Amino acid sequence: MVNRRNFVVVTLATAMGVVAFGQGCKSQSNELVVGAYLSLSGADSTFGTDTRDGIELAMDDLKAKGGIKGKAVKVLYEDDKSTTQEATNKVQQLIDRDHAIAILGEVASSRSMAGGLVCNKKKVPMVTPSSTAVEVTKDREYVFRTCFTDAQQGDVAARFVVETLKKKTAALFFVAQDTYSSGLASTFKASFEKQGGKIVIDKGYQKGETNFTTYLQEIKGAQPDIIFAPVYYNDMVLIARQAKGTGIPGSIFVGGDGWDSADLIEGAGDLLEGAYFTNHYAPDVPWPNSQKFVTAFKAKYHHDPSSLAAQGYDAASLLFDAIGRATEPTPEAVKVALAATSGFAGATGSLTIDKEHNANKPIVVVQVRSKKFAYASQLLAN
Ligand code: PHE
Repeated sequence: MVNRRNFVVVTLATAMGVVAFGQGCKSQSNELVVGAYLSLSGADSTFGTDTRDGIELAMDDLKAKGGIKGKAVKVLYEDDKSTTQEATNKVQQLIDRDHAIAILGEVASSRSMAGGLVCNKKKVPMVTPSSTAVEVTKDREYVFRTCFTDAQQGDVAARFVVETLKKKTAALFFVAQDTYSSGLASTFKASFEKQGGKIVIDKGYQKGETNFTTYLQEIKGAQPDIIFAPVYYNDMVLIARQAKGTGIPGSIFVGGDGWDSADLIEGAGDLLEGAYFTNHYAPDVPWPNSQKFVTAFKAKYHHDPSSLAAQGYDAASLLFDAIGRATEPTPEAVKVALAATSGFAGATGSLTIDKEHNANKPIVVVQVRSKKFAYASQLLAN
């Protein structure tokens, strides 16, 4: 007779057998698992869904090529709901439960910091398509990005304001505790002052604030030539609407890549007519591989790709290329192959991963024109 204790032992042994068998199957499997953690819902949901669209287009290309060395690739998506806590949890799951050999994500730098910490600890390479804060890849052997950094973006924005717009004074308006927003505000400030510009007022607000009128009145009182607002699109819609009420023209705002969303156009496109922001890409950018990507994207989704979609496409395509170049499909070998990436022809330009794991790319200046994002110019970081 099986008593209770023996029963438990037998059940455990059976369960362990199943687990061992399951893992055995996995290693022999013909499928390579890549994890993607993104803000598919919550405050920054268009960042996540646009990036996923780009990754899926890269998957179509890969399928048409027959996978990687005969193996199919499966991308498992996890929604972090636009929070850092969930970013940590989801990356842990993708590595421990799903045995992902590499991770794609996130968009917001604060969440890439959280997810990147897990990847680095577990020695699984991560590629962020669009997190620009300098700290994201710093001292993290397993974290890579396929975009420029905010040290470069802030400098380019300041140079554009001084050299092209010929403006001499600026206000800073940003989210005080956010890695991306405050980091970009400070690199802009350093470069702007270096070029003889003057910051006449500097306002950091708390994440989650929705009433900006007091700040905007103070900013108006300081009479800046431009207002540098490196914030995400959802906040920028509210700021543009309240600026109008305060009597500040929308055209004097200058932003960073965080403005990129169809929701910005939808919510405040008319109010921001004439405003500029720095970005990774624009649908009408004159780059060789870009038009091919735009055509393929439109055929699949029936609208213009955002910069997030283009970056998602490039990050996934580059990762698949690196898995193909790796000596074996393991996290360690993929990390080595990623670090060796040189001259990869992406839709957003030629990608070379430098020794800090960043990509040096031209920075595009986009203007809000007739409720569209229009390419204005491109600058190389110094
Ligand atoms: N660069 C932003 C960050 O690091 C994210 C972002 C990229 C947002 C591109 C929009 C477009 O947080």
